[in-house]
Amino acid sequence: MSLAENTRELDRLFAAVRVLPVLSIRREADIFPLADALLAGGITTLEITLRTAHGLSAIARLQQERPELCVGAGTVLDGRQFQSALDAGARFIVTPGCTDELLTLGLDSPVPLLPGIATASELMMGYRLGYRRFKLFPAEVCGGAAVLRSFSGPFPGVRFCPTGGITQAKVADYIDLDNVMAVGGSWMAPREAVEAGDWSTISELSRQSLAD
Ligand code: 3PG
Repeated sequence: MSLAENTRELDRLFAAVRVLPVLSIRREADIFPLADALLAGGITTLEITLRTAHGLSAIARLQQERPELCVGAGTVLDGRQFQSALDAGARFIVTPGCTDELLTLGLDSPVPLLPGIATASELMMGYRLGYRRFKLFPAEVCGGAAVLRSFSGPFPGVRFCPTGGITQAKVADYIDLDNVMAVGGSWMAPREAVEAGDWSTISELSRQSLAD
């Protein structure tokens, strides 16, 4: 897909539901109840990281059995993982940072790449190639909403998905910024709630996030 299509597809994914749960699956048995709890709370798009051994299989199984969910792969660190994520059926790819290898793969990818950046210089590496949508990571550490306000001057037309350290209480700081496409993080599925199988809390947190 061209990078213009990359941008359009990401905008389409986040047009209606502007929060992105970032999930690390620690137990295989959690895959469906967790996804169903998020769906019940109104979530339609989610990111599953490749940080755990269950990441790729969770993407593949959800793609097959919950086609109403748009499932992307996160924490993709290199070309090998990029390909594995595509093979698993990921509908988009998210990386915590950007490397030449990943940015080049995104130029010719069948699904959109959302490259991670933390500085203007990293953004400009992607910008030069035509990327206009980025993940800001780790958002709360690298300046939060203030850095996004600052980026809106030199980089009009660029929009972000900030993630990293964002809590329910902080979503409101980001969501109304003109250059924010979506807000991502793990706050909708806290580890304790997942471990306890407290799916109703996860649905409720999703609902609250969408109400912001
Ligand atoms: C990510 O990869 O986007 C983050 O690890 C999510 O950050 P959080 O767990 O601090 O929300």
